[in-house]
Amino acid sequence: AGFEAAQGGGMAQVVPASKPRAPLTILYASESGNSEALASKAKKAAQKHGLDAKVFDMADADMALLAKAKNIVVYAATWGEGDPPARAVDFYQALMSDAAPRIDGVRFAVLALGDTAYTQFCAIGKAIDQRLEELGGVRTFDRVDLDLDYAKKAAEWTEGALAKLAPEDTQAAGGTVVHVDFGGAFPQADDDEPKFTAEQPLEAEISALVNLNGSGSTRETWHTEFAFDDPAFTYQPGDAIGLLPENDPGLVDDLLQAVGLGSDAALFLKLQKSYDVTTLSRAAVENYAKLTGRADVKALLEGEAYPKFASDRQLIDLFLAYPEKLTPEQLTGLLRPLPGRLYSVASSLKAHPGEAHLLVGAVRWQSHGRERKGVASTFLGERRRIGQTGRIYVKPNRHFRLPADGHTPIIMIGAGTGVAPYRGFVEERIADGAKGKSWLFFGERNFTNDFLYQLEWQDYLASGDLSRIDVAFSRDQPEKIYVQHRIWERRADINAWLQEGAHIYVCGDEKGMAKDVDATLVKVLAEPLKGDEEAGRAKLKELTKAGRYQRDIY
Ligand code: 2AM
Repeated sequence: AGFEAAQGGGMAQVVPASKPRAPLTILYASESGNSEALASKAKKAAQKHGLDAKVFDMADADMALLAKAKNIVVYAATWGEGDPPARAVDFYQALMSDAAPRIDGVRFAVLALGDTAYTQFCAIGKAIDQRLEELGGVRTFDRVDLDLDYAKKAAEWTEGALAKLAPEDTQAAGGTVVHVDFGGAFPQADDDEPKFTAEQPLEAEISALVNLNGSGSTRETWHTEFAFDDPAFTYQPGDAIGLLPENDPGLVDDLLQAVGLGSDAALFLKLQKSYDVTTLSRAAVENYAKLTGRADVKALLEGEAYPKFASDRQLIDLFLAYPEKLTPEQLTGLLRPLPGRLYSVASSLKAHPGEAHLLVGAVRWQSHGRERKGVASTFLGERRRIGQTGRIYVKPNRHFRLPADGHTPIIMIGAGTGVAPYRGFVEERIADGAKGKSWLFFGERNFTNDFLYQLEWQDYLASGDLSRIDVAFSRDQPEKIYVQHRIWERRADINAWLQEGAHIYVCGDEKGMAKDVDATLVKVLAEPLKGDEEAGRAKLKELTKAGRYQRDIY
């Protein structure tokens, strides 16, 4: 036997190779890649704990896999209003159904990721945790529910969970002391680890900032170019770029005034750059009730009126409705760190070395008598000028990638800012000399005002770098015309392209566009199958499994 050196940064640790390694099944449900990254790091760490870990995306897993597992660690994200990540829906439903297998005696631990801005915080992780116990599993380490600033706590949790799951003798021997590096405070040189993260962003210069909409538009969509010298800032088309914005100074001012801290300049700057000053989470209201001892806030939380109060309100509304003076520490104690906003990158690094382009729609709305502003989108649209900087990082998305073979035809479907990644796709294919056919479906409100990147698409059509374009301008005629209507009209050609091996991409709004496009694609695929929608659905699933139907939806 002898010893094998465990892989890892810094000093090598030794684990007796002769010890039997307990099997560990790491399952993740991921939308934007956070759970996926945690799962793959947990795998590395598990090795050092004497566990033989395998990682599975719920997208590729089934109940048979669950039935075979001996030890399970789950990383589960909750998406939007309490939904499972799109790719994990089938697994999740099977797990919740009566057909789920018994897992008596199987040891498990669940980490839930979520966003406290939503009321159904971590709902999916909670449900999975409960379900595994119902099925006979033994919870060996308590679940943790983490917000967007999860990195450090997730590392600690993983360490704790793996220590509990590790074979007894490894534990008794003092185990192996493992430092799980989840990025953040400790930058990693690891190849698959981006150098720039939300915790360590790159400060890049804004070299272009153009509103692509016409003056008659109801929209304001900012084409933004970031320029940088650091060759370590790399991305691929399909990736997202995270932007750490700064808060609206007007809002920060209002907030400080409301809690009697209006004259604290240092706190103003801290709040502007580093804290989420908009989100009204239940946790923040609970803290506020405790901190202030206000019976009315406590009553608000307990009553049925709370969801109505919280709906479309922000932190400032709480402070104005239930005014109290706070100390700076009390105030920051109520706030979570400012989360980055993700945007699909709109450029190819090969076409624009040292640049990353984003397409950002300005978000503004009115609620409860106040003007509201999307933090990041109005940061670019109102508070930045060319020559100033912004903090950015890369969020890889291996689920939205050009085909490996440049000859493979691509069908790109996007509405609004959902067109962004396709600009990167086409630029990349030109840079690669890839000759595969390409077809763009684009939807927006109005031809004259909202045809995003119109001139570029027309140039690409003329040069042959884009083979086809179909547009749907929803408000240029009395009845709505959407991308899915164009898709349906062109169904014969779409099926022909699919016969030739085309990949289909969908980017944009999930609830409306992506859902309707999905339903339309089922019908398109069903048509050559005698209109059998079951069969069309199965075919679309097949395409998904084969990586030929990829979605980047938000
Ligand atoms: P609308 O605003 O006129 O309803 C980008 O936002 C484009 O997507 C707009 O033209 C918008 O149309 C359209 N859109 C809205 N809902 C949609 C849906 N369910 N399916 C497809 N497109 C939609």
